[in-house]
Amino acid sequence: QRYKDLDSREKMDPFAEQEAWEDHQIGKAKLKFGSKNKKASDDYQFVFEDQISFIKESVMAGENYEDDMHPKEAQDAAEKTALEELQEVRKSLPIYGYREQLLQAVEEHQVLVIVGDTGSGKTTQIPQYLHEAGYTKRGKVGCTQPRRVAAMSVAARVAQEMGVKLGHEVGYSIRFEDCTSDKTVLKYMTDGMLLRELLGEPDLASYSVVIVDEAHERTLSTDILFGLVKDIARFRPDLKLLISSATMDAEKFSDYFDTAPIFSFPGRRYPVEINFTSAPEADYMDAAIVTVLTIHVREPLGDILVFLTGQEEIETAEEILKQRIRGLGTKIRELIICPIYANLPSELQAKIFEPTPEGARKVVLATNIAETSLTIDGIKYVVDPGFSKMKSYNPRTGMESLLITPISKASATQRAGRAGRTSAGKCYRLYTAFNYNNDLEENTVPEVQRTNLASVVLALKSLGIHDLINFDFMDPPPAEALVKALELLFALGALNKLGELTKAGRRMAEFPLDPMLSKMIVVSDKYKCSDEVISIAAMLSVGGSVFYRPKDKQVHADNARMNFHTGNVGDHIALLKVYSSWKETNYSTQWCYENYIQVRSMKRARDIRDQLEGLLERVEIEISSNMNELDSVRKSIVAGFFPHTAKLQKNGSYRTVKHPQTVHIHPNSGLSQVLPRWVVYHELVLTSKEYMRQVTELKPEWLIELAPHYYQLKDVEDDASKKMPKGAGKAAM
Ligand code: CDP
Ligand code: MG
Repeated sequence: QRYKDLDSREKMDPFAEQEAWEDHQIGKAKLKFGSKNKKASDDYQFVFEDQISFIKESVMAGENYEDDMHPKEAQDAAEKTALEELQEVRKSLPIYGYREQLLQAVEEHQVLVIVGDTGSGKTTQIPQYLHEAGYTKRGKVGCTQPRRVAAMSVAARVAQEMGVKLGHEVGYSIRFEDCTSDKTVLKYMTDGMLLRELLGEPDLASYSVVIVDEAHERTLSTDILFGLVKDIARFRPDLKLLISSATMDAEKFSDYFDTAPIFSFPGRRYPVEINFTSAPEADYMDAAIVTVLTIHVREPLGDILVFLTGQEEIETAEEILKQRIRGLGTKIRELIICPIYANLPSELQAKIFEPTPEGARKVVLATNIAETSLTIDGIKYVVDPGFSKMKSYNPRTGMESLLITPISKASATQRAGRAGRTSAGKCYRLYTAFNYNNDLEENTVPEVQRTNLASVVLALKSLGIHDLINFDFMDPPPAEALVKALELLFALGALNKLGELTKAGRRMAEFPLDPMLSKMIVVSDKYKCSDEVISIAAMLSVGGSVFYRPKDKQVHADNARMNFHTGNVGDHIALLKVYSSWKETNYSTQWCYENYIQVRSMKRARDIRDQLEGLLERVEIEISSNMNELDSVRKSIVAGFFPHTAKLQKNGSYRTVKHPQTVHIHPNSGLSQVLPRWVVYHELVLTSKEYMRQVTELKPEWLIELAPHYYQLKDVEDDASKKMPKGAGKAAM
């Protein structure tokens, strides 16, 4: 119906004056949507390009839509105290009606699978119900989350609902950040953190209930926890174990947990109209932006949720949206842009949950995190480009990279569902119905089957679990991935020939880091440079770049960055220089501004570094510094990262040494113009090419010295030097 209206409007104003306006303000994508439920006939198809005149018309007329809010409700709400209001909200959640039944089921069964729609109150309410029912008198209630942002924000919400200070009765624990105290009885944490806690408390004695939440996400840590908590539950009959999940795979969870009963309750779902594009989109970012703007200008109030793949995309989208909104002038209503992704600083996270002011519209630009982990109230429109960033691992080569991958049908369904929580909604899929039916997998492959397992194998070994082939995996990883992990840990010296943990391995397991980073730290003891190496490890662990590069000051920013690279020291040493220079200024914020360094990343690096320093003490490694002998630092890096080495080719590209693959130095690297013969890199990222990020030069003989089990002489023979004239590398650029 709406589309027909539109057609007639378009005819009233076929072409308007400012021609460039279209491209610039709204975007170039030509989007066609057909509805899933109806035949994609002309009636129900709409073409964004043609709507632009309509948009402009409404803008010029200063047209406003009827608000969806009921003024009386809003007024009444304002009169209540915040806490009272929150209690009312709690009672309005779908799970509330099942409170008593749920508590009874928990009382009667040791293990319970709980299934309910996303947003129905599982994560925020169940721990509170258990607390109210007295379970916290016997021990903590722990609730795991696959994502750190979810753990933090849910804990904040629950603290608010209980009227307590975050970190007191309700707290959270994520890697490098522990916001709990002796008082804490409800503890939200990442699944990875509970795994780490198990190392110190193998029976989870301080817990009365463990909730493995968002179980359907099937992260690596969650899958490992399944096997461990299942075992603990057998010898600790007093421990209650709840496996909670959105409506997926409940039978499978139940089967795995010895046919545990399933407690499922209905959510409140409103119809969601699904629209597909009628032709594939070449540029989903642009398509997403056009869709958002079109919704904003044409559709009744209600917030928009857009699924993008990562921080970079989200920041770009935010920038473009702001720019185009500005171009639309002041006549259209306010559009509040809220980004949410894993590394978003906590002070900005709260913003997405703030109610949208009357008359305005909010657009949330989110990663997968908003698919099931976080529920944002008021979403009426979902824009789903159909992609997410996924880890992929090649067990043959041992290479891991993050790839932008099409989502599964199960994900698409979850995403669409976010539009129908509080009222009927709409979902715009930026892919075709044909794509959906023929190209998307039914379910996302569990992480355990597509990741490097070295880290969990090390954790399991230090828990005393030796027989990994027979570990009780819900879905076992490929055998070769397990073998590869064992091989790597052996090469790193964490395991001996019998597969037993060595002293170095035991030390490595203490660090909440990838085993290669842990090895780098442990080895720095030998080279007397632990001080430098933990700074580097901290800088590598902040997530995202520490260098700030605003669009309008790129040249300045690049110059500032290159200062740290003087002498072509390599990216690791450059990061070290950034850290020590900042430290010398007594951690000055001003210094960060002047040098185009992200203050927030630096503060995080400092926190992480403090913790690593504490852990050094635990594994009895003394802090020692050797700033004048940078090769010691480089050797420590190579001792941890030797599987990540590559050799320059005649054409200026690189070839990885062990499992030959063509790679390139990332353009942001300080060595991207230098092209040393041999390099070690921190990670590979696949964008337009396979790029090595964070690169340092090494001497090939170090490989034999530091990784004799891994490299032989023939691997490091420098035949290239004979055939290649000096400077050929540079010429190839
Ligand atoms: O876990 P589940 O998906 O079943 O729901 P939940 O996360 O417990 O969310 C229940 C309600 O709490 C939703 O209406 C959320 O919007 C709200 N919530 C919130 O306002 N702020 C948070 N940080 C988390 C949840
Ligand atoms: Mg939840």
